[in-house]
Amino acid sequence: MKVVVIGSGYVGLVTGCCLAEAGNQVVCVDHDAGKVAALRAGRLPFHEPGLDELLAAQLQAGRLSFETSIARAMRHAAVAFLAVGTPSQTNGSANLENLLHCVHELADTAFEDCVIVVKSTVPIGTGDHIEKLLNAKHGAAAGQPRVRVASNPEFLAEGRAIRDFRHPSRIVVGANDEGSAQALAELYAPFVERGASLMFMDRRSAEFAKYACNAMLAARISMVNELAGLAGSLGAGMEAVCRVLKSDPRIGAGYLQPGAGYGGSCLPKDLRALIRSAQEAGEPAYMLRSVQRVNRLQGRKLFDAIRDHFGGGLRQRRIAIWGLSFKPGTDDVRSAPSLALIHALLGAGATVSAYDPVAMNAARAALGDTATVFGESALNVCEEADALVLMTEWEEFKAPDFEAVAARLRGGVVFDARGIYRPGLLRRHGLQCHRLGERPAGLQAGKAVRAPLAPNPQAEPRTPG
Ligand code: UDX
Repeated sequence: MKVVVIGSGYVGLVTGCCLAEAGNQVVCVDHDAGKVAALRAGRLPFHEPGLDELLAAQLQAGRLSFETSIARAMRHAAVAFLAVGTPSQTNGSANLENLLHCVHELADTAFEDCVIVVKSTVPIGTGDHIEKLLNAKHGAAAGQPRVRVASNPEFLAEGRAIRDFRHPSRIVVGANDEGSAQALAELYAPFVERGASLMFMDRRSAEFAKYACNAMLAARISMVNELAGLAGSLGAGMEAVCRVLKSDPRIGAGYLQPGAGYGGSCLPKDLRALIRSAQEAGEPAYMLRSVQRVNRLQGRKLFDAIRDHFGGGLRQRRIAIWGLSFKPGTDDVRSAPSLALIHALLGAGATVSAYDPVAMNAARAALGDTATVFGESALNVCEEADALVLMTEWEEFKAPDFEAVAARLRGGVVFDARGIYRPGLLRRHGLQCHRLGERPAGLQAGKAVRAPLAPNPQAEPRTPG
């Protein structure tokens, strides 16, 4: 099938490369000529595991090419994806300017019987609007078929995008006509053969499903973060509590890791956009607003814990940060909790030395001319620091040489915002470890017991209550 992908950003490139790998002839379009030249030469503008190899292989196989012109790309296209970014505007709504610019260019382009598929995350009803815009111009031209617009939201997560695209948990197709549903069923047939399920629905439901999923994920994270804080204050251990939560099939095991709050380009942005849509629809959206509020508080709590540890002041304190990207496997620092923490620390008069295996350049650009010092290695930033804060659970931070950390870290204290370290192990190296959801000093934990080897036959029979 000849496929066009308009917008060669994160979603567009992953989509283009993976659809080319599935045997389609794919043309990816971007208005940025420099980016297109780099992509033609096999150079990616961001870090995503496995994508550079896939890009090189598809370029070499001749199944993937890059264009700056929508009109040139659209010749003989059967399916054209719109995969243009929809960033937040100041009022929280999704900015559709770039997307609509492409739609207007498409409207001015003569193309054959091609299904236009919206992959960008867009407010509910955007597909209707695009269809109207295209048909107003396109349908009026002599001999042009009516344009059909479908929705096919993307659920891939950064750092494992290729795996997610190759083996999706489901593929959502929102189509208001048989033809576009059929075209997408044909395009995704190889994925269905490998076990993916196609879910057909109307266009608005598909648009909403994307927001609903991200809202649900964000809500889980805020809930587990709030519970972790409560567990700490009430003298319970969140790790044990999480084991119980995860063992309940109704709750499920994923997305229950307490941390510094969710970040990234999708959850915060999509939640803001959904709240805005709710506001426009006259819905209060109490839950969504609380999810957002708890997430903001989570970052603040981490800062407060660091400040309180130093008796309420951070002036002259040097804080080392491990991890800048919003999660491992990506160089994306958009809405990264690490950046919010760095701003708060600097604002309180601390100095910050930071290290990330992949996201240093992105963080440098995002932090601008703040006084943050970027170190060459994880150990290097610990030199003479009063505290170390683990912000992103990259592999190389999971089992570091604590002896070497302790030798460098003047203050001997580690704040583990991702719950990956064993406080006992750190203690053996002379390091104090603070984790979210831990008991504050003074609140004694009950003694943890192991499961007995065999049931005790002498035990009293238990009575409920
Ligand atoms: C998310 C959705 O998962 C994906 O389906 C959608 O298409 C885009 O948004 P992504 O932004 O790549 O993907 O990141 P994700 O892996 O979902 O993590 C989001 C944030 O939540 C990260 O900051 C992560 O650290 C945090 N998180 C995740 C937790 O704090 N705890 C968890 O248990 C899971």
